[in-house]
Amino acid sequence: MAIVIDGKAVAAELRDGICKEVAMLKEKSGKVPGLAVVLVGENPASQVYVRMKRKGCEEVGIASYQHLLHAETSQEALLSLINKLNASPDVNGILVQLPLPSHIDERAIINAIDPRKDVDGFHPVNVGKVVIGDEDCFYPCTPFGCQVLINRHVNDLKGKHLVIVGRSNIVGKPLANMMVQKNKMANCVVTVCHTAAQDIAYYTRQADVLVVAAGKQNTVRGNMVKEGAVVIDVGVNRIADPDDPSKTILVGDVNFDEVSKVASAITPVPGGVGPMTIAMLLSNTLKAFKLQNRRA
Ligand code: GUN
Repeated sequence: MAIVIDGKAVAAELRDGICKEVAMLKEKSGKVPGLAVVLVGENPASQVYVRMKRKGCEEVGIASYQHLLHAETSQEALLSLINKLNASPDVNGILVQLPLPSHIDERAIINAIDPRKDVDGFHPVNVGKVVIGDEDCFYPCTPFGCQVLINRHVNDLKGKHLVIVGRSNIVGKPLANMMVQKNKMANCVVTVCHTAAQDIAYYTRQADVLVVAAGKQNTVRGNMVKEGAVVIDVGVNRIADPDDPSKTILVGDVNFDEVSKVASAITPVPGGVGPMTIAMLLSNTLKAFKLQNRRA
């Protein structure tokens, strides 16, 4: 049976370290890092994520500024808010919760965020820095959380075969770019497979480390995983509870019962990657504060 990777515990440990550092910075400079979170509309999942981000900030002493805008907010109004946040000295990090309503051009909004405040790591400047291995950047929070969990469960990643299922801009593509770098936290041989693959199992069976971010329940079954692999499940799917159809439960993209019999370690859903995403956001906000307060 696989070890169940406790993302909640690792995230709590990281928050503890961030909390101590924030307190130290406050004593030294009288200032604390600040994160602005912008939510447009009433997407229920986004509302939950934004609430969790605020709670995370509160726990570590980061100031959080919430901007909850109605669903009809114009692109111009949103751009004008971004410009204000870019100019505000109290705001070190800016996060615009995605997805945005369809009348707003997501790319135009992301491009308007000052790359030095782009704690999501979605701005092309940060994407480019990740690709070329410039560490003076922000790594997107979910792949960053995956990288930390992988490093805790694999001793020497050098030359290990990392297979990623899913090619999104938020998880699959940035994770591939991070894990192929020649550094201690990475140095993997990376394969990205996706919906155009004729036989996903052909790839997943070769993985020493398998990350699944496909957005679909049961994308990976027990017979698709190599004995002893480390499996990271990024999926979050809300389904009817098989024991009580009046309720819903969260499941990942991996069939946990089957795969935990084959893998050496596996993340649960919930309690695996999810809490790590928030912890990495706090870590990025602290990094932004330090970079912006660095003496020239
Ligand atoms: N929506 C889903 N994941 C994310 C994320 O990591 N950041 C933002 N801003 N929106 C998201």
